Amino acid sequence: MKLLYLLAATLLLVGCSSEKKANNLDGEKLLAQKCTKCHNIDLPPKTFEDEKAPPMMAIAFHIRGFIKTGDDSQRIPKAIAFVKDYVITPSASKSFCDKESLKSYGVMPSQKGKVSQDELQAIAEYMFSHFTQKNLNEAQLVQNRLNAMPKGERLALQNNCLSCHKIDKHIVGPAFRDIAMKKGNSLEVLIHSIKNGSKKKYSSSKGAIMPAFKKLNDADIKTLGEWILSLQSKKSLHER
Ligand code: HEC
Ligand code: HEC
Repeated sequence: MKLLYLLAATLLLVGCSSEKKANNLDGEKLLAQKCTKCHNIDLPPKTFEDEKAPPMMAIAFHIRGFIKTGDDSQRIPKAIAFVKDYVITPSASKSFCDKESLKSYGVMPSQKGKVSQDELQAIAEYMFSHFTQKNLNEAQLVQNRLNAMPKGERLALQNNCLSCHKIDKHIVGPAFRDIAMKKGNSLEVLIHSIKNGSKKKYSSSKGAIMPAFKKLNDADIKTLGEWILSLQSKKSLHER
């Protein structure tokens, strides 16, 4: 499935942007530890409610765009220097935040003593390599694909069902379409099996078992069951 590949690639990209690390410090982790009390670090932010500060994505785009330099190769180094300075000695006059927003957020409290210059170097390097237009476009592409899916399929993807099941093909477990077509299978039966697991029901599985998904909530299990049943078709199948 193309999307899975894309998702995996994107997660890799988002998960381990380990390009440059100052003194082996992990800028991604440090950003999450030191800055998320106030800043949203999602790419893109999923909500703008309860905002205490501008989202980090907006900040990175802002600084990169507004920093003054005649030499474009100096843009990122200067942006990094700005972050290192601003976090320790913030002020209304230095901020690139527009007046209106600045008034509603208030000037950022200095983080002096809470984060070292080395840590800030790693955080800033990560900020300007992660919050880029390219990564935003890719994240949005994945999100659009997810949004376009039926909810049941999205849940199957997110809960790893697709590592054992495909829609049309037996892999570890039976094809979802075969499950949908199997005689005697109803929504209740599928819900019961997703919740409690199943074994020896399908000869094609050769003894492999369906694990119990106790942690899924009832609404999601029902959506998964309904989606699987919706895959019924008149195609000829090996298992009835
Ligand atoms: C206690 C809340 C708080 C924490 C913690 C915090 N910030 Fe902020 N930050 C703000 C607020 C509010 C603003 C917006 C007002 C301003 O520009 O000062 C801001 C603004 C900024 C700006 C300037 C944006 C601009 O457009 O000029 C940078 C850079 C920044 N934060 C980086 C960080 C980093 C990096 C961390 C983690 C090390 C961090 N902040 C932690 C509240 C916080
Ligand atoms: C580790 C592999 C594995 C994973 C992960 C897995 N399944 Fe299964 N699944 C199986 C196998 C194997 C069977 C066939 C078991 C049998 O023969 O009774 C099965 C059977 C089923 C059945 C048929 C049950 C019946 O009563 O006919 C459903 C429905 C099902 N899986 C849904 C799911 C859903 C939804 C997920 C994700 C939440 C999932 N599976 C994740 C391996 C897996």
